[in-house]
Amino acid sequence: MISTVKEIEREAQEKLGQIQSAEDLEGFRVLYLGRKGKLQALMMQIKTLEGEGKKEFGREVNQLKKFLEESVQNLKGRFEGQSGEKESFDETLPGIIPSVGTLHPINETILEIIKVFEKLGFEIVDGPEIETEFHNFTALNIPLDHPSRDSFDTFYTAGKQLLRSQTSTVQIRIMQDRKPPLRLIAPGRVYRPDTVDASHSFMFHQIEGLMVDDKTTFSDLKGVLHLFFREFFGKETKIRFRPHFFPFTEPSVEVDIRWGKKGWLEILGAGMVDPNVFDAVGYDSKKVQGFAFGLGVERIAMLRHGIPDIRLFYENDLRFLRQFR
Ligand code: PHE
Repeated sequence: MISTVKEIEREAQEKLGQIQSAEDLEGFRVLYLGRKGKLQALMMQIKTLEGEGKKEFGREVNQLKKFLEESVQNLKGRFEGQSGEKESFDETLPGIIPSVGTLHPINETILEIIKVFEKLGFEIVDGPEIETEFHNFTALNIPLDHPSRDSFDTFYTAGKQLLRSQTSTVQIRIMQDRKPPLRLIAPGRVYRPDTVDASHSFMFHQIEGLMVDDKTTFSDLKGVLHLFFREFFGKETKIRFRPHFFPFTEPSVEVDIRWGKKGWLEILGAGMVDPNVFDAVGYDSKKVQGFAFGLGVERIAMLRHGIPDIRLFYENDLRFLRQFR
């Protein structure tokens, strides 16, 4: 009797190997596991036995049952959706569109600004956010006791390094490394001890610009910035240059843009690179001239998209971020 069980198992194994479709599988299932199937017949036989023989035969039949059930279950997955009207595939239904990420409005604005300067032959460069006092202050003509250090003063690490408070640090790093002519754009994060409100954040983004050559004049600066503003904000854009002070440029200006009826809005700081900065990086300040500018990215992104509060940029609220495709 035990040999019958073994035989059925062998036969079933052979049949399993021939199954090609869901119909084949269903035929197999009915033949072995169906109500009038081979397994059921064996089950009936158990009842007719007694004692040790019954136990042993029962065990064998149960093993066969487990084998048959598992085989059917395993094959089922393979044929799923192949027949059966319920699982049929409707190719007229719209597909599932995978969700694609979008650029953060800050990065999008940076890329748009960069595009304009690339057309003018400016190269994109990068610098570290953790800086030395030399790069953030001293080389930029801001000595330890200079009052303008206050507004730029920043977060220090235990090792006397600091989180840069301006991207002007990148000017220094590149000039230490290379000789003129230079035409650079350096986007990145900066840090200031500012109290957070609708228009201030302890961290924000700047884009630094630097051009150095043997003859770079203030009219080059004006020309480049005029072009940038017209390309970026439109042909009709009006800007004005207002005298200002920065330790690392002389003369220095702030540039405002005419904004609706609200009047003038400050967008960037700029000026001719101070000879002391050239001296600090080992250039001959009598032989080179240059201009530099720094603009605030959040400011520009807020103007572009009509965003009223700077904090919206950093909250990771997808309802806000998804609006910028
Ligand atoms: N670094 C200045 C700031 O953060 C901006 C600036 C850059 C001004 C370059 C002049 C030249 O305010």
